[in-house]
Amino acid sequence: MSRTVYVNGEFVAEENAQISVFDRGFLFADAVYEVSSVIEGKLLDNDRHLARLRRSLGELNIPSPASDETITGVQKELIKRNELVEGAVYMQVTRGAADRDFAFPANAVPGMVLFTQAKQLRDSPQARDGIAVVTMPDIRWKRRDIKTVGLLAQSMAKQAALDAGATDAWMVEDGFVTEGSSNNAFIVDKNGCIITRQLGNDILHGITRASVLKLTQQHNIALEERAFTVAEALDAQEAFLTSASTFVWPVISIDGHPIGDGKPGAVAGRLRELYIETALQGAV
Ligand code: PDD
Repeated sequence: MSRTVYVNGEFVAEENAQISVFDRGFLFADAVYEVSSVIEGKLLDNDRHLARLRRSLGELNIPSPASDETITGVQKELIKRNELVEGAVYMQVTRGAADRDFAFPANAVPGMVLFTQAKQLRDSPQARDGIAVVTMPDIRWKRRDIKTVGLLAQSMAKQAALDAGATDAWMVEDGFVTEGSSNNAFIVDKNGCIITRQLGNDILHGITRASVLKLTQQHNIALEERAFTVAEALDAQEAFLTSASTFVWPVISIDGHPIGDGKPGAVAGRLRELYIETALQGAV
């Protein structure tokens, strides 16, 4: 079935959607994006995703194409038109089209594209059984806090993980885990303390990460925001990852070594439940 997508002010069938060959998102990855997940036809953590979109745009001096209210209206209209119950709404803003030149064009009009993807998020085998990750060097640029569509390094990491028989890659820089190919990385040490890398330019400031950290506070679960090594991860009691498209997935092995008892951990399971419950309460 053909989806309805949104392109620069219009709702069109996906096969009729058009973007200029001079679009800077296409030529320079000069574009930013967000993914808001949908459960029961409602958007989770959406205000925070829109706030991060605004921040990414600001860091790149791309003018905002629309207000949060307008964007939310488009998101909801797409959910309705595509009868989306569970999945995600993807939104992308590009600097716009201009003849190819490295310098930012003076008068480009920012473009905005949104589409939906149906996916089973709650009832997921990966959440139930846990996943295997492999580590690999983090070869990305140094502004990973900006959510740009320049995702080739992450795409390569994900594919290398799949080729190695794993589900995802955790990227490593100077001996420390930065984050997953499209998620934030966590471990739980032998004392039950959650450890996840502190915010900075070297990781994306995950919205799900922020929500999960808030839950650890509310439920008095010990937390340390600091970088951890691969050796620490291998020695951990549990490991897990977070993102809008996974919520919380337990990691049961890293580089072929079982983590803890090699089964999905209790902390990850509890945080997953709490996250879904809390996010649904605030869903719009
Ligand atoms: N990825 N780190 C990276 C590199 C990511 O790409 C993502 C999200 C996250 C988690 O952020 P959040 O909790 O806000 O989704 C961390 C999205 C889901 C994607 O690219 O599809």
